[in-house]
Amino acid sequence: MQYPLIVLSNRGPLSWSCVNDALVSRRGAGGLVSALGPGLTATGGTWIAAAQSASDRRAAKEGQQDNGPYQVRLLTPDAAEQEQALHEISNRILWFAHHDLWNRPYGPVFDAKTHAAWSSYRKVNKLFAAAAIKEARHLQSTSSSARLPVVLVQDYHLALVPKLLKQLAPEIPVGHFSHTPFAHTSAFSVLPSDWRQELAEGMGAADLCSFHTQRWAARFRAILQQEAPDLTPGIAPKIEVHPLSPDPKSLQVAADSPKVRAERAILEKHLKGRRAVVRVDRAELSKNIIRGIDSYTELMRRRPDLLSSTAHLILVNPSRLTLKEYREYLHHCRQTAQKANDELGEETIIFLEDDNFPRSLAAFLLADVFIVNPISDGMNLVAKEGPLLNEKNAPVVLSTEAGAYEELAEMCLGVNPYDITATAKAIEIALEMPENERERSAQALRHQAMAHPPGQWLTAQLEGLQ
Ligand code: G6P
Repeated sequence: MQYPLIVLSNRGPLSWSCVNDALVSRRGAGGLVSALGPGLTATGGTWIAAAQSASDRRAAKEGQQDNGPYQVRLLTPDAAEQEQALHEISNRILWFAHHDLWNRPYGPVFDAKTHAAWSSYRKVNKLFAAAAIKEARHLQSTSSSARLPVVLVQDYHLALVPKLLKQLAPEIPVGHFSHTPFAHTSAFSVLPSDWRQELAEGMGAADLCSFHTQRWAARFRAILQQEAPDLTPGIAPKIEVHPLSPDPKSLQVAADSPKVRAERAILEKHLKGRRAVVRVDRAELSKNIIRGIDSYTELMRRRPDLLSSTAHLILVNPSRLTLKEYREYLHHCRQTAQKANDELGEETIIFLEDDNFPRSLAAFLLADVFIVNPISDGMNLVAKEGPLLNEKNAPVVLSTEAGAYEELAEMCLGVNPYDITATAKAIEIALEMPENERERSAQALRHQAMAHPPGQWLTAQLEGLQ
């Protein structure tokens, strides 16, 4: 990979906080850092992201931008516009469209406020495009390489950026990667028609649009045909499938730490020797946490003999709490767990809320069964990270609607995420699976979970851009 890279994403690889008035950085939240960090470290370049907090804004103002082998530039959009672009459009509307989360009698609603938010979304996308071009010119003038920088745009927050970039600098290769599913035509058609066209033409202007699975790529192709018939999908833009796997080495290194050992001891105290049906997720509507608890509860009602030897360990990372939908969902998850414990007793649901990476890794190590049952998910790295670290050959109960299912179908217990009884049955099968079968499927899972490490994932996209 000899290209200087410019990565654009809403969240960057670092997040800043102020400790005794000094700025301190730590690894940013979300999976994008593990996906893109190793590639950027190898090639050098710049990661451009939006400041997410007051400390991030201060870091941006003070020009804090060094992240070892590559630069980080934090943009500071107007705070009100950023709020509208991120929360109203990206998280409340586009995320819901891509994951099919609407409860249509009530939402979405496109009123004057929403249309104003769309203008902010456009402005934030323009800010990113302008910053990328400025950076590209800078890299061209300072780099010894004759190659043009490549711009890699991430996710639904920045869907308009590829077209804006091509208008400013048509010669620069542009890729767009969707870490989410892509909306089904039935969900996409709910959006106002001018937005639909802008989104399709915005992403469609990229030289390459990439997805985790064939399914999401096919949906995008259908949208392009409908909304941007002048484009010829497959030729302009190229549409490719590049599934991602975790980086096994860095995962192992992170798991082998005193912090993870300490968290493991805490979890073992909660478990009191019981087997753990584990889930690790953001408190996210698409993750289907409530139906997961209901499935476990239904199983325990039917099989009370399992109750004393089993617990459902749920680690949730509170997420997007500025949105009412997320606050309510988290509350509902807590309530469902509480109700199950009231009914079944013995703290059979262990519900822990925290943004705690070492604790997640500890749960991956000690799980007896994994439950990954999203309503829809671009890939879902837990389905791969869990088996890679796990010490007990834990089977994975996996939603057919997770992107990971396309790769892992034959080695996991596939479930319809809406079918509580079927999910309960799958958990039961997993708990009672004979050891030789557990070993066989865990081995296959470990093998497949390493198939597309981040470096290869990125190289494949860069080859697609040639
Ligand atoms: C998904 C998206 C990311 C996003 C992350 C967390 O993985 O693909 O772009 O950053 O969710 O969501 P948040 O709203 O907390 O950034």
